[in-house]
Amino acid sequence: MNPDPPLTINCIGLGHWGPNLVRAIALHPSARVGVVCDLDASRLDLVCRNIPSIQQTSTDPLATIQDPLANAVVIATPTSTHYSLVKAALLAGKHVLVEKPLALRVNEARELAQLAQNENRILAVGHVFLFNKGVQFVRSLIETGELGPINYIFSTRTNLGPFRTDCNALWDLASHDLSIINFWLGTTPISVTARGQAFLNPQIEDVVIANYTYPENVLACVHSSWLNPSKVRQITVVGQKKMVIFDDMNVDAPIRIFLKSVDIQNQPEYVDSYGTFRMNIRQGDVVIPHIPGGEPVANQINHFIDCIQTSTKPINSADIAVDVIQGLAAAERSMKSQSVLTLVSEE
Ligand SMILES: NC(=O)c1ccc[n+]([C@@H]2O[C@H](COP(=O)([O-])OP(=O)(O)OC[C@H]3O[C@@H](n4cnc5c(N)ncnc54)[C@H](O)[C@@H]3O)[C@@H](O)[C@H]2O)c1
Repeated sequence: MNPDPPLTINCIGLGHWGPNLVRAIALHPSARVGVVCDLDASRLDLVCRNIPSIQQTSTDPLATIQDPLANAVVIATPTSTHYSLVKAALLAGKHVLVEKPLALRVNEARELAQLAQNENRILAVGHVFLFNKGVQFVRSLIETGELGPINYIFSTRTNLGPFRTDCNALWDLASHDLSIINFWLGTTPISVTARGQAFLNPQIEDVVIANYTYPENVLACVHSSWLNPSKVRQITVVGQKKMVIFDDMNVDAPIRIFLKSVDIQNQPEYVDSYGTFRMNIRQGDVVIPHIPGGEPVANQINHFIDCIQTSTKPINSADIAVDVIQGLAAAERSMKSQSVLTLVSEE
């Protein structure tokens, strides 16, 4: 029996991020890169020089989408263009992988999710941390109860740039944190208060701090900034039995498990008024588990192709992306109304 012919995937948007996706497709045994497209022709030249197997280029995104030879389209253009490009691709009958966030409004994201379902097409969103082995490892620690009930999660995602003009740091950066935290906790936040400030560009917040409350009173604090001296991608999970730090910048030890906890059940039989405030602190080892390699972007592309071939809903589905966007939109509403407590499900 002949193997299936390779899938042809056209790629739109070859700026900072898009070439990573193009490279992963070019390396996949069951897919080929069809047309690569960018409004900026200099980006096309650069990518073609580095990936010689690419044969066709275009500066016309709609023609690239409507190309009858393409089975799927990968979109890595600025966020403000996602809604219209994804809609056009789904209506042209293509499977789509689009970068995060899926759209800038909840109703647009929902419309795209519904359209993908109606058209029977795969719509996957670039929540690439769902394909990160460290993130998957932390999820298994939480799921199996190894950390105990979770008290709170604190995430820091900072750097100096890249500065965007079509969305603020919350939409650009916290989309990763929400996708990770929703995945870890297996649920979505109930409410949020957020503060942010625009220092560089009026109306576009460079720094946002959002405090989410999840079911079971789990607190999740998400600090997003592209105006910071250091690049940090670190998330601390404090469980009642153990605590974990996931540090995506630490190649040798992305996960550290701290066998530390505070025991409030084992109090002495007799406690005086001072003693009631004493807690037993358990200071244990720090464990650095081996996390298998595998590039998350390549894992994401492999999964997208598998989902197309087997008609399976992706783990980074449009529904997951809608949940993320609801959380971002609620934080945005809170931020714009002086940090008022905002229900995530309001919109
Ligand atoms: N998953 C991740 O970790 C990750 C990392 C970085 C960026 N991103 C996402 O990728 C997307 C792109 O980010 P970036 O940093 O590469 O931005 P960028 O500005 O560096 O690149 C965007 C490219 O798209 C091109 N472009 C703009 N509008 C277009 C259109 N209508 N048709 C064709 N080309 C168009 C631009 O010329 C540019 O080359 C964003 O949604 C961003 O959030 C994801």
